[in-house]
Amino acid sequence: MSKKLAVNGGDKAVENFKSELCVWPIVTDEDREAIVEVLDNRSMSGTDITKEFEKEYALWIGAEYALGYCNGTSALHAAMWACGVGAGDEIICPSMTYWASCTAALSLGAAVNFADIDPETLCIDPKDIEHRIGPKTKAIMVVHYAGYPADMDAIMEIAGRHNVKVIEDASHSHGSMYKGRHTGTIGDIAGMSMMSGKAFAIGEAGLVTTNNRGLYERCIAFGHYARTGAPSNFNAVDAQVTNPELQKFAGIPLGGYKHRMNQWCAAMGKVQLKYYPERIAGIDKAMTYFCDLLDAIPGLKTHRPPKGSGLTKGGWYHPVCHYIPEEVKNVPVEAFCKAVNAEGVTCSAGINTPLHLHKVFHEADIFNMGQPTMISFGQRDVRQGSGTLPVSEEASARNFSIPKFTTFDKAEIEKVAAAYKKVIDNIGELV
Ligand SMILES: Cc1ncc(COP(=O)(O)O)c(C=O)c1O
Repeated sequence: MSKKLAVNGGDKAVENFKSELCVWPIVTDEDREAIVEVLDNRSMSGTDITKEFEKEYALWIGAEYALGYCNGTSALHAAMWACGVGAGDEIICPSMTYWASCTAALSLGAAVNFADIDPETLCIDPKDIEHRIGPKTKAIMVVHYAGYPADMDAIMEIAGRHNVKVIEDASHSHGSMYKGRHTGTIGDIAGMSMMSGKAFAIGEAGLVTTNNRGLYERCIAFGHYARTGAPSNFNAVDAQVTNPELQKFAGIPLGGYKHRMNQWCAAMGKVQLKYYPERIAGIDKAMTYFCDLLDAIPGLKTHRPPKGSGLTKGGWYHPVCHYIPEEVKNVPVEAFCKAVNAEGVTCSAGINTPLHLHKVFHEADIFNMGQPTMISFGQRDVRQGSGTLPVSEEASARNFSIPKFTTFDKAEIEKVAAAYKKVIDNIGELV
């Protein structure tokens, strides 16, 4: 193999990247049959299968309650409302996440006070939370970014002292463990996506999990009108709202949302869950091997908890590698990734773009009030400009995504890692 980089006309390190080693989710006849059964029974809009799925998922992660949603965005919206987030309130959220972690706060008339992330975990930095808490702060949104569990001990301690709720966005962390507990069971409530790209992937779906009966009932009242116990509902026998304050509104969702999960997704979820622990153990084996190889290369440091820390990455959603330009002649991550791609291997520069700089959180007037919603209801302006959250703002220059091996194939993984090494060994060609 010529040392010359493929991007400069040399031979490719990997001629035929076996993309089948990265296929996800794994779909079998059992998934197909479960979905067709729902179709044949015309029970797409029911709740019987969803309730079974909720129970099974809750049992697996060790939560008291789970509630099915049409997507993760609505699950997080409901979780915020359940925690009492309303007009004039604030939530604290890491800037480095997908918009759905926090944008529903605006629909509730609340503002988002963005916090910076820790450069290693890429999750909210506990040191950047406390000084943001004000009289109207209702909740801290925690995102277990790319499956890496956030520092929950520190976050729960701060939240407890200030009587602020903790909402976990567990969309990236199905199966990720934090010191013996599943992510999604540690805060007051969690919302998560289960859309097709996620580690637990069952279509357009989501879930709320909580150990708090009051929050669970508020979620039902917000978006699950058919489960509130109204006499006019066909399945009133399944009434799950016992709080008289909520019961008096039974039958019509508070706020007008309809959050029910399509039972095709629930049926697939039941099948996927049976195999998920075993499948993510396979991913963990493959990714641990791959990451060990990458970590031996200068300039690269994979995004994963230290071995023996009691923290795991579950289904390894969207695996990321830190890039340290100072160690590799300051070649920008884009040039590095372009050279790796030319070697026949996938990777892509950057991660999410920081939300605190997006115009939605500066200018959007969602309520037609002639002023930005971020300042329409509250007592203070928590908008933040460029330079305020340096780690989030630099994250895309210091991180890139790597392939997620869902099957362990030692020889292929070694070939792929060697392609990364070839680029780093010859980084001088990119200067
Ligand atoms: C961190 C995070 N939160 C929330 C969501 C929203 O979930 P959904 O797309 O299912 O609405 C996603 C992704 O889609 C996500 O990555």
